[in-house]
Amino acid sequence: MKSPHSIKPVSGRLGILLPGLGAVATTFIAGVELARRGLAEPIGSLTQMGTIRLGKRTDNTSPMIKDFVPIAPLESVEFGAWDLFPDDAYTAAKKAGVLSNEHLDLVKDFLSTIKPMSAVFEPTYVKRLEATHVKTGPTKMALAEQLMEDIARFKRERGVDRCVAVWCGSTETWRAPAAEHQTLEAFEKGLRENSPEIAPSAIYAYACLRSGVPYANGAPNLSVDFPALHELARREGVPIAGKDFKTGQTLMKTILAPGFKARLLGLDGWYSTNILGNRDGEVLDDPESFKSKEVSKLGVLEHIFQPHLHPKLYGKYSHVVRINYYPPRGDNKEGWDNIDIFGWLNYPMQIKIDFLCRDSILAAPIVLDLALFMDLAHRAGMSGIQEWLSFYFKSPMTAPGLYPEHDLFIQLMKLKNTLRWMKNEGLITHLGVEYYD
Ligand SMILES: NC(=O)c1ccc[n+]([C@@H]2O[C@H](COP(=O)([O-])OP(=O)(O)OC[C@H]3O[C@@H](n4cnc5c(N)ncnc54)[C@H](O)[C@@H]3O)[C@@H](O)[C@H]2O)c1
Repeated sequence: MKSPHSIKPVSGRLGILLPGLGAVATTFIAGVELARRGLAEPIGSLTQMGTIRLGKRTDNTSPMIKDFVPIAPLESVEFGAWDLFPDDAYTAAKKAGVLSNEHLDLVKDFLSTIKPMSAVFEPTYVKRLEATHVKTGPTKMALAEQLMEDIARFKRERGVDRCVAVWCGSTETWRAPAAEHQTLEAFEKGLRENSPEIAPSAIYAYACLRSGVPYANGAPNLSVDFPALHELARREGVPIAGKDFKTGQTLMKTILAPGFKARLLGLDGWYSTNILGNRDGEVLDDPESFKSKEVSKLGVLEHIFQPHLHPKLYGKYSHVVRINYYPPRGDNKEGWDNIDIFGWLNYPMQIKIDFLCRDSILAAPIVLDLALFMDLAHRAGMSGIQEWLSFYFKSPMTAPGLYPEHDLFIQLMKLKNTLRWMKNEGLITHLGVEYYD
């Protein structure tokens, strides 16, 4: 594949649009503003803190990623959001309880100015929330048009040149793709006829793509991952990516499992359980929303271990994932893993992990990187599914017929090689060519 002839330079302001102004979105916005004011570090973000090696190891050339590719500076970012509740970002952040008052008060003036636009919502898709700030319209197409008007107004009022969207809304109930999802024509007919198969998140995705806005999906629901919207993304020349931010337990899985596989250690079972008490946990307490999450979490191991290639090692392991809503924990999730592995001559061993993590602290840098990389891809003329951003997702979207890559280290190599490719730099394959040339 040829590298892009040129990447459009960064000029003007970038709008980051967030359907869902809850724990993740407010932690992200507050963190960006604290970083802009020099009051905190954007830890965990490749676009802000990552480096990229160029050329041979002996060249000692490893610039910052943000100096190597033209990434929009944090100073140029404007935020917009939609939510089911009218709370501004400061009030929502206080309720989410992720960041301390000490941090929030430093940016209270800024957060208080971010007021969500009213949401497109359907209670059958998120059962545990009673929305108070929603759009009404005769059809789902009319709602999509209202979202497009929101985007156009946001750009006008904030003096924004271009936008990207990252879904930070609740996890919707699990649905298999239906006929409406197969072609753009069928999907648009479904919008006009109010098909119950079309979820609110897909209406946002449609409105964004029609507005030329790249769309990344942080939740496991379909949203933009079906043929009709793949078609629209290609037609409009807009990048799309998903699904489900890779944080906490799945991050650990995709760090550890490639190691076991590399050393050909066998697996009898992997039992994962979580307790969490934030609003996301409350939504996931509904079995139909949990089903979306479960599907997304379960796929990871199979693709890493490839049981069809290694039936003796990975042919019949048991993989169980549980999430329990436990309010006292708030956003500070606890994830336990019990891993039964076996080695030489089938001798069994066990590994236990107890990860006391903070969900939104792990998710916020992902939102930032996705927004900035999706904007970069758009300016580089890339459109459709951005597999090179699989690094950030539990359940990466792929081109039809391909299996997703889950190994975190292969994902990172692919991401960095894509950046090298964009800039016509030699790819790094770790073949050690420096010894031979
Ligand atoms: N925090 C993590 O580590 C993590 C990891 C992977 C995925 N996710 C996903 O990211 C999403 C956000 O997580 P969170 O912890 O911020 O949840 P949250 O419940 O705090 O925030 C979600 C917000 O979305 C709003 N919302 C729901 N439906 C909406 C709609 N149709 N339009 C506009 N707003 C809507 C809710 O009112 C809520 O304020 C969830 O889907 C979650 O599963 C989070």
